[in-house]
Amino acid sequence: MEEHDKYIQALIELHLGLERQGPGDTNFSNHILSKIKPLPANPRIADIGCGTGVGTLFLADKFKSKIRAVDFSRAFLDELINRAKQRGLEDLVEAIECDMGSLDWKPESIDLLWSEGAAYNLTFKGALDAWRPLMASNGIAVISELSYFTSEVPEPVRAYWQNAYPAITTELENSKHANSSGFKILGIHRLPSKAWWENYYDPLREKMNSFKHSKDTIMQSVIKDTEKEMRLFERHGDQYGYSYYIMEA
Ligand SMILES: C[S@@+](CC[C@H](N)C(=O)[O-])C[C@H]1O[C@@H](n2cnc3c(N)ncnc32)[C@H](O)[C@@H]1O
Repeated sequence: MEEHDKYIQALIELHLGLERQGPGDTNFSNHILSKIKPLPANPRIADIGCGTGVGTLFLADKFKSKIRAVDFSRAFLDELINRAKQRGLEDLVEAIECDMGSLDWKPESIDLLWSEGAAYNLTFKGALDAWRPLMASNGIAVISELSYFTSEVPEPVRAYWQNAYPAITTELENSKHANSSGFKILGIHRLPSKAWWENYYDPLREKMNSFKHSKDTIMQSVIKDTEKEMRLFERHGDQYGYSYYIMEA
């Protein structure tokens, strides 16, 4: 296995068993949904980059409609299926193991596209371009994207993200990307930093502690990188974070 693939495997192992694989919050998701117009009856909904499916199960429960849940990790999808069974939601979950960048679905077949903490894998612009043709006319997309909250980005923040995610940019620039991909921005809402800690970093830190004595050097470097990311967020979490872009096709 290539070094990069081993790194991804270690990341998946570290995140298995956690409720979330990225920052998010159920109350905040409810707040986001309160901002969108009613969906058509039997809405066609997709959760792209679903991980172990916190968003998928939230949407299934909310809309009582089938959710297409896409991820390239079989391990995450299996965990999602188990969780759906435990909650009696398995008939509402269609787990699809594939690359989010090559969804061969019928054009204009999605009424609500949901994607939390995952679009960056294609870059925000890349994801919008790939997913826009799937959107039903006037369909709604809710996509969270790591964004700068200021154009005066402090140097340590710029240096870190320039290396980790060079395509990161401001909400203004992302809004321009949305327009040029054929979406209309309806609203942009910032995930509170408290949600990062309570729902993501704190449980992740506990999981990292359980690997403290692991001899796996790749796992140790994933842990070191994650600790660095946490320290940056501790100091500068008011200057960047996840913005939820609500968009209409
Ligand atoms: C940060 S996690 C977010 C997971 C989930 N949405 C959440 O909020 O807990 C990103 C997810 O995207 C998936 N992913 C990354 N690249 C992908 C790709 N090219 N195709 C499909 N899934 C991908 C990862 O396996 C992971 O589950």
